[in-house]
Amino acid sequence: MKVGSNINLAAQLLAQGKLVAIPTETVYGLAANAFNANAVAHIYTVKKRPQFNPLIIHSNTIEKFINWGITFNKDALKLAEAFMPGPITLVLPTSENIPQIVNAGHSAVAIRIPNHPLTLELLALIDFPVAAPSANPSGYVSPTNAQHVLNQLENEVDYILDGGPCNVGLESTIISFADPTPKLLRYGGLAIELIENVLHKKLDKGAIINNDDPMAPGMLSKHYATKTPLVLGQISNYLKIYNPKDIGTICFNKPFDIIPENQQLVLAPDGSLETAATNLFAAMRMADNLNVKIIIAEPLPNQGLGLAINDRLKRASAGN
Ligand code: TXA
Ligand code: MG
Repeated sequence: MKVGSNINLAAQLLAQGKLVAIPTETVYGLAANAFNANAVAHIYTVKKRPQFNPLIIHSNTIEKFINWGITFNKDALKLAEAFMPGPITLVLPTSENIPQIVNAGHSAVAIRIPNHPLTLELLALIDFPVAAPSANPSGYVSPTNAQHVLNQLENEVDYILDGGPCNVGLESTIISFADPTPKLLRYGGLAIELIENVLHKKLDKGAIINNDDPMAPGMLSKHYATKTPLVLGQISNYLKIYNPKDIGTICFNKPFDIIPENQQLVLAPDGSLETAATNLFAAMRMADNLNVKIIIAEPLPNQGLGLAINDRLKRASAGN
């Protein structure tokens, strides 16, 4: 059986250089032993990911990263102590222990402690970090349950550790300490307001880029894309162009009149941005399986996790 909750088996496979999909609170990751360059190379092949796009390494304690030679400055340590384990990734000066294929030869490496009980237990069993991008083919929507991984990568992974649905549902927020001033590289599952409160300063957001800069390819404008074209905007505007039966929607807290209700995905009937984040990627996959010509997503309030949700929807809609 490829899917299960056997952490000893997962640890053994990782030690052998195999690929294991792991649950995290954000999205499922496609993990390999980060100290094994061949195993890491296999991740790029399976995901069809450009080799210039660096990977995040995961472990269960700050001390392990320090022992592997990664250095935290004062602010980075503050964030690590406040939010790890949790949906945040820190980009820090790398160490010679990390094979260059992991971070695509950059002078910094991304580190994360995922907050998922099963994966924390697994990471405690092993004495190496795991490199893990989201467990989806490059460019498609990230997986938030084991079935999503099975649907797309069944033949490519050696084991899927099933930890249930991801409760945050958006990838980690990425903060770079590659330069002295902290920079936000990706909106994600930890609201930036909380991070700024701990740092007592505003983050530099100038590094969030929308072009094809190879420094942070997760920032490529087209990303997280459904196969059915998705647009972000007011649903009423598209009713002039499309027949209601050809429209699928992703709405915030209530469905839109006129469009058949079974073609509408409501992210958060309770109106909470956390609920919307948890449901977003599964809703995008469901919308992609409707027999419609266009998916219209309604922008969410631009605060807290709404910023990250709108960011993902914007990237999914790029060029449409
Ligand atoms: O929540 C997450 O972060 C999930 C789970 C599995 O941990 N992982 C994830 O990985 O989203 P991935 O590979 O899909 O996205 C990682 C992002 C990419 O945009 C990559 O460019 C950026 O992190 N990144 C990784 N290392 C970097 C580095 N050294 N400098 C700048 N950006 C980096
Ligand atoms: Mg990804």
